[in-house]
Amino acid sequence: MEKIVWGEDFSVGVRVLDEQHKQIVTMVNTLIEMHDAKIESEIISDTLTKMTQYAISHFSKEEEYMLEYEYPDYPIQKKQHSEFKKKTVDFCMETMVRKETVPAEIFTYLRLWWTSHILKEDMKYKKFFNDRGLR
Ligand SMILES: [Fe+2]
Repeated sequence: MEKIVWGEDFSVGVRVLDEQHKQIVTMVNTLIEMHDAKIESEIISDTLTKMTQYAISHFSKEEEYMLEYEYPDYPIQKKQHSEFKKKTVDFCMETMVRKETVPAEIFTYLRLWWTSHILKEDMKYKKFFNDRGLR
């Protein structure tokens, strides 16, 4: 599976959030590499758990800014973030139960979710935050 290639098109214009997104992309890419190498699912589930924990703290930072600046699409973001959290918890459970291979759908989901969330949903706040002096 192809890794995610970070480019300027991924920049949401807020330095802290860009840095966090980069970390997440790196973690997702690590998982993709593991999948290609067919590493045992225990190591994958540990990495998946770390990525989820990091993502949760990133979501709260992002949501904190949205509340502070009264971002109108906050409910949409909140909903998408919750769906992601629920889905990854399910994934962690799944990988812990089955020890052999991790279903490809997990990697496909992570790759697709992060790229589309950053490029579509998060990108919508770029101008909003920048106009209010948050960069
Ligand atoms: Fe987001």
